[in-house]
Amino acid sequence: MDRYTVFGNPISQSKSPFIHQRFAEQTSQRLVYDTQLAPIDGFVEAVSAFRRAGGCGANITVPFKQQAAALCDQLSERAKRAGAVNTLHWLEDGQLLGDNTDGAGLVADLYRLGITLAGKRILILGAGGAVRGVLAPLLSESPQEIVIANRTAAKAAQLALAFHDMGTISGGGFEQIHGNFDLIINGTSASLTGEMPPLPSIEVNQGCASYDMVYGIDQTVFQKWGQSIGINDNYSGVGMLVQQAAVSFGLWRGVEPNVESVLSALIEETG
Ligand code: ATR
Repeated sequence: MDRYTVFGNPISQSKSPFIHQRFAEQTSQRLVYDTQLAPIDGFVEAVSAFRRAGGCGANITVPFKQQAAALCDQLSERAKRAGAVNTLHWLEDGQLLGDNTDGAGLVADLYRLGITLAGKRILILGAGGAVRGVLAPLLSESPQEIVIANRTAAKAAQLALAFHDMGTISGGGFEQIHGNFDLIINGTSASLTGEMPPLPSIEVNQGCASYDMVYGIDQTVFQKWGQSIGINDNYSGVGMLVQQAAVSFGLWRGVEPNVESVLSALIEETG
């Protein structure tokens, strides 16, 4: 049976086996998908051992996405831009292809939620690996402007510079946020610890939505903050999680799974 896995550290919290097993059932694909706890200093060895044991592909999560990119023979354009890989795929000739499906997953989820991006003014909080991973797919949807705001202003400015050839994008500190927004995305890891970035007062256009790339059982502090400033639609990243998995699954198996039914099952399981 074809073998897939997700490498991370920690990894026991991963929902990827749940999601991929359901995709496999739904599309009648015979495969197994498990988790692998790679030692912090032993990621490369863990991947080699998995491949020797017949592994066909793998997902990569924190903290190995950058190391995974360095390991690949070929990178997709979006993985190159992200400087990080969340999907490994061994090709028939043995070459290792690295892709990053996080941004495509985010964009697909925004469309699922009825949020269009063309012509929109988007605020993104955070300038770490998670944000870098989604910028190219977001910019490809032709927003009017992306503003990156981060606790460490210089990181946001550098990130904006690295993507300025793809569209109108700027970066700075939270205090530099100005103007009205149509969509606010939280890409900081602050939600994970129940913290809210210290934001100034932010103006939103009618119909503005917020999206937290983090998800949990309960509403995140960021979602609650969205409500408190008058945003009606405040989403968690659970849909992005299933969508990025669907893009990986399609790359490996050549079939598109149905996201909605697996998303409902996941929400029921975790809720
Ligand atoms: P990830 O891979 O999740 O992006 P990361 O690269 O460590 O992780 O980046 C974490 C991001 O969350 C950064 O933008 C970080 O801000 P700094 O660059 O200033 O460190 C942001 N972050 C983490 N905790 C935060 C907090 N309590 N308030 C505001 N921003 C926070």
